[in-house]
Amino acid sequence: MVTVDVKGCASFVKDAQFKAYTEKALAGFDVLQSGQGAGNDFLGWKHLPSETPESLLNDIDAIRKDWASKGVDLVVAIGIGGSYLGAKCAIEALSHSFARELGSKGAPEVVFGGNNLSEEYISELMDLARERNTACVVISKSGTTTEPAVVFRIVKQYLEETYGKKEAASRIVAITDAKKGALKTLSTQEGYRTFIVPDNVGGRFSVLTPVGLLPIALAGFDIRALLAGAAEAEKALSVKSETNPAVVYAAMRNLLYSEYGKKVEIMVNYNPKFQYLAEWWKQLYGESEGKDGKGIFPASVNNTADLHSMGQFIQEGDRVMFETVINIAKSNRSVVIGTDEQNLDQLNFLAGKHVEHCNAMAQLGTRLAHIDGGVPQIEVGIEKIDARNLGELFYFFEFACGVSAYTLGVNPFNQPGVEAYKKNMFALLDKPGYEEQSKAIRERIAK
Ligand code: PA5
Repeated sequence: MVTVDVKGCASFVKDAQFKAYTEKALAGFDVLQSGQGAGNDFLGWKHLPSETPESLLNDIDAIRKDWASKGVDLVVAIGIGGSYLGAKCAIEALSHSFARELGSKGAPEVVFGGNNLSEEYISELMDLARERNTACVVISKSGTTTEPAVVFRIVKQYLEETYGKKEAASRIVAITDAKKGALKTLSTQEGYRTFIVPDNVGGRFSVLTPVGLLPIALAGFDIRALLAGAAEAEKALSVKSETNPAVVYAAMRNLLYSEYGKKVEIMVNYNPKFQYLAEWWKQLYGESEGKDGKGIFPASVNNTADLHSMGQFIQEGDRVMFETVINIAKSNRSVVIGTDEQNLDQLNFLAGKHVEHCNAMAQLGTRLAHIDGGVPQIEVGIEKIDARNLGELFYFFEFACGVSAYTLGVNPFNQPGVEAYKKNMFALLDKPGYEEQSKAIRERIAK
């Protein structure tokens, strides 16, 4: 099970304070578990691991087999925010680092679109689609988000021109709301196979719905193991206790934020496969907690690379941050450093040692240096990187996010601030219905 170690904060906080914040976090836990808190119509994610029916996983398998029979070797997964980050995180974490360079191992390559409006990116994505045997998964809970809708229009037109309308429809799967939204209407009209994002699951909590499960399965990874890991976490974290890892994490981060001005939390990884774990986590915590003028700003570094860029700031810059380090107990691979007769690089003292041992010592050395530099350290530990452990980690961070946001006193499940940019963008793009806003914004920028 995921562990949380807060010993690296001991020299910064007082025991009595941690006890008081543990009480607050336990109250946050109660709010989450009672289902009586703000946003309580979005708690469907809590029981996804234990309640996902086998029939849903079989339906996902059926798509995988159908596309394999067509020789599909590229899946464009279209979505933004919670509709892409979980799948991207899992695929990055579970893939060989050089999968693309090594060539196909059976499963199609899953690439992502609809998470930006860069013309260059979209055009280059289509260069790839044209080279390959392509299918598409379009994901939008609301079914109305601009970025994925724009890219889907382009991919859909390409698939229809290339394969014909009927075959194109069999190469498109939509994941959206059960009843409403443009994507739902289009899917019904065109006869696309669809999966539903449950009403009571928000985007950033949706990685264990088809939103995450379908792309992850298409990329060749074991979604049953992912759910089994999450189910283990669901069970373990449901126990009310001051040693519950989600309570410990929520208590310490709220204490550091509220009493010590630690307004930035940096997720630290020592394995590049987890770069997108941090991106997924940043969305989860940023959108869930950053509201009502409150919230910890979630940031991330990828070490040891970033020790040579952000390391200076973390060691000696403004003391506004604490770190949450992902500790992976066991490497999946083994590389031992050899002896060199000349020893010009003077590294023979490392001969016979595993590279992962050096990584662990870099991690430990950094932890101690950052404590000395005034940066409290939380450690979140897993056994190794695999589907099961990743499932545990997903559920842990989701559950802890609910506990933590209620401890902070905000609704974890809404995101009213996301609308502000959209209104301006639509006004600037002259969307029908935005005439007044278009006029006002043009006057504003002309000043
Ligand atoms: O967490 C959220 O709800 C958001 O980040 C959404 O996932 C994101 O805005 C995409 O929305 P949709 O799936 O409706 O296109």
